[in-house]
Formats: sequence, structure tokens, C-alpha cells
Amino acid sequence: MALLHRHFLLSFLIIIMVSFVASYSTLQEDPLRLYVEDSPYIIDNDETFKDFIMQSTNDMVGSGTSTSQKTINVNDYGAKGDGRSDDTQAFKKAWQAACSSEGAIVLVAQNNYLLKPIRFSGPCKSNIVFQISGTLEASDNPSDYSNDPTHWLIFEGIDKLTVQGGGTINGNGNIWWQNSCKRNEKLPCKDAPTALTFYKCNNLIVEDLTIKDGQQIQVSFQDSKNVKASALTVTAPEDSPNTDGIHVTNTQNIQISSCIIATGDDCISIVSGSKNLQATDITCGPGHGISIGSLGAGKSKEFVSGIVGGSGSASNIKFQNIEMDNVTNPIIIDQSYCDQKEPCKEQRSAVQVSNVLYENIKGTSASDMAIEFDCAEYYPCDGIVLQNIDLESEGGGVANASCKNVKLSYRGNVNPSCPKKERKEIALDTA
Ligand SMILES: *[C@@H]1O[C@H](CO)[C@@H](O)[C@H](O)[C@H]1NC(C)=O
Ligand SMILES: *[C@@H]1O[C@H](CO)[C@@H](O)[C@H](O)[C@H]1NC(C)=O
Repeated sequence: MALLHRHFLLSFLIIIMVSFVASYSTLQEDPLRLYVEDSPYIIDNDETFKDFIMQSTNDMVGSGTSTSQKTINVNDYGAKGDGRSDDTQAFKKAWQAACSSEGAIVLVAQNNYLLKPIRFSGPCKSNIVFQISGTLEASDNPSDYSNDPTHWLIFEGIDKLTVQGGGTINGNGNIWWQNSCKRNEKLPCKDAPTALTFYKCNNLIVEDLTIKDGQQIQVSFQDSKNVKASALTVTAPEDSPNTDGIHVTNTQNIQISSCIIATGDDCISIVSGSKNLQATDITCGPGHGISIGSLGAGKSKEFVSGIVGGSGSASNIKFQNIEMDNVTNPIIIDQSYCDQKEPCKEQRSAVQVSNVLYENIKGTSASDMAIEFDCAEYYPCDGIVLQNIDLESEGGGVANASCKNVKLSYRGNVNPSCPKKERKEIALDTA
């Protein structure tokens, strides 16, 4: 009897060890971790990136091995998945069940689910995995969005959420693009929904998904902390207005990696209040590049209004291993902050931009200016590093750089670099 008991205990221990080794090796293989270990660059006094990664990965590994996971299939809550029936209520019910369970997995099978706007709200009882194998498709009837015209799917106030599964989130944005003032100047400029928003989510993983044809911004991380976004394919037609790929607002500790982004606007846009951000192994284009600080003067991005005030900061940001393919403004920092329709120039107030590394950025620029730093005279961009940059004009000609009020250093080969006269004033050339 005792022997049997001991035998049982032993196999139990072996199982635990095996699963520990398995999770440990996933941790080891995480390429993002290497970047962080290697980097002397990002120095943050309170919470280093390294700590963040260790901590949040551990949390997630912990959640992955939880024994009491309950699977909640949206089909069991009435979802049809036929691409025509409205499955919104079924998803809401499934979410409620998941959110009040201990360690739930929400399963979205390989069907096509038609959805009106939904808020998946926390706090939830414990960690949740949202496993999307099929397609979530947005209703394209604007009247379905009358309560909140700016969002389609929102995950909000959730701790330890993983959204994954290889499936597709389709914003079905054509109707909004057609009605955009950018397509037709006679039409009033109106908000369109962000396809997928994460708002106030901490310890968040979003991976292995396709997000396409967003009504406007495709994926937005807002007021969140400890975020890993990886293996995302984010696409929209080149002429779809304001369809930023990944938008980051007021979010700290975020890693974006191994993503392919081709949209009608910025691949990645970072605005005020964002700190400790890494974007690595990104393929960007066609479309616009990676932008910091700006809501895009003249880009009619009023839709982001209400998120933050007129000024703030964006700091400790790294962009590494980025391939630009026919991209308009591949690298841009613009401190002008314009969140209202009309007089932006006069109301210029700076988003303080500091400690930004651009490393291994190659490819082609669709615009003459491949690099544009347009910083405020009274609040220069500080600690900007360009390392191994090679951007050419799409046609094969020279691409240019424009650098206003930026404290800049160069490492390795940087092409294009700032014109000498702009450099003299402020640049600190270490090359
Ligand atoms: C590059 O982009 C521009 C506009 O953004 C477009 O007109 C042009 O056809 C593109 N070139 C290639 C080779 O895709
Ligand atoms: C780009 O740079 C080239 C060579 O330095 C220069 O001749 C040209 O005028 C610049 N173009 C713009 C638009 O600044």
C-alpha cells in the first residue's frame, strides 16, 4: 500500500517536472528576452523591461498550466457561426460565463461569427484565454454602433488575458472607408470604430491572429500594462483611411514582435503616455511607417480624442529589425499634438519624446523623407539613436532625412542621415 502510494507520488513529481521543463524551455526560447538582456539601452528606474518580461511570462506560464480550466464554447451559448446570424448575444453570454469562472478558455471554433460591438469587461474571477480559431466579422451596419461609434470589440479591465488561436478578426471596414472625409471631402469627418481595443488590461498576451480591414485603427492598446503582442498579421488596403495597424496610447511595458503590418496608415503609432515599448521583427508596408508623438497633423485623427490631454510623454522605445516596404514616412516623430479638428498649429503642445532607439531598419520609402523628426524648439526630442539604418527611395533614388530640434546620435551605418546644417545645432554625432 505504502509502496503504491510512493509510486504514485513519484510519477506525479515526474509529471510536474516535465511540465516545468517544458514551460522553462519556452521561456528560454523567447527571442524577445534576448533583446532585453542584450540591451544596455533601455534604462528605467522603477520597472525594468527585464523584470517585466520575467514576471509576466511567469504569470502566463503559471496560468497555462492551471489544472482547473473550464472550456466555454461560444456555440454552446447559441452562436451560429454561419456568417449571417447575429452572434453578439451568444458571445456576451459566453463571456459572462468565462469571466465568472476559474481559469476559463473561451473557444471560438472555425466558423464565421457575425458580431455587433461588444465589450468584454472585467474584472474576471481569474485568468482567461480567448481562443479564436475561426473568424469574427464585424457588422457593417453603422446603426449598430450608435451607442459607441468608436469601438467594435473591446476587452477592458481584465488581468491576465490571452487572446490567440490563429483565427481572424475582420472589421469589414469598407463602408466606413467609403464614408470617410478622406475619401470624399464633401462628407463630414466622423469617427469610425477601432476594430480591436484593449483598454486597461494588465498582463496581456495577444498572439497568432490576423486582424484585417479595420473600420479605422485596427488594434489599439490603451491604458494597459505588461503587454506582449506577437505573430500578428494586420492588413487593410493601402487606400483605407486611418487604418493604423497597432496603436499604443498611455501603455507601459509593451513588446510587439514578429508582426506583418500593411495598412492604409501607420504600421505602428505611439502616442502620449507610452513608456517601455519594444517593437522587433516587424515587416511594415505598404502604408505608413512607425510614428511617435503625433496624432498626425492634417491626418484628421480626431477619433483618438478624449484619450489623453494635450501633452505628455513617450519614452524608452526601441524599434529593431524592421523591414520597410514602400512605406510613406518610415520613421517619424512629430511632436505636434492635435486632437481637434481645426487650429492645430496654434495649439501646438509638445509630447515629450525621449530615449528612442531605431536599430536595423532597412527597406524602401515611398516618400522623399524617409526619416522625419519634427520636434518642438522649446522641447527637443532627446536621446534619439539611429543605428544601422538603410532606407532608400522606392524608385531607387536617395531618400532624405529631416531633423528639427532633435538630440540625435548615430551608430554604425546610417543612411539617410540628417543634413549637416540641421545636425550642427544639436546633434551629438558619435559615429
Ligand atoms: C509605392 O507606394 C505608392 C504610394 O504609396 C504607390 O503609388 C506605388 O505604386 C507603390 N509602388 C510599388 C512598387 O508598389
Ligand atoms: C534630398 O537630398 C538630396 C541630396 O542630399 C538633395 O539634393 C535633395 O534636394 C533633397 N531633397 C529634399 C526633398 O530635401
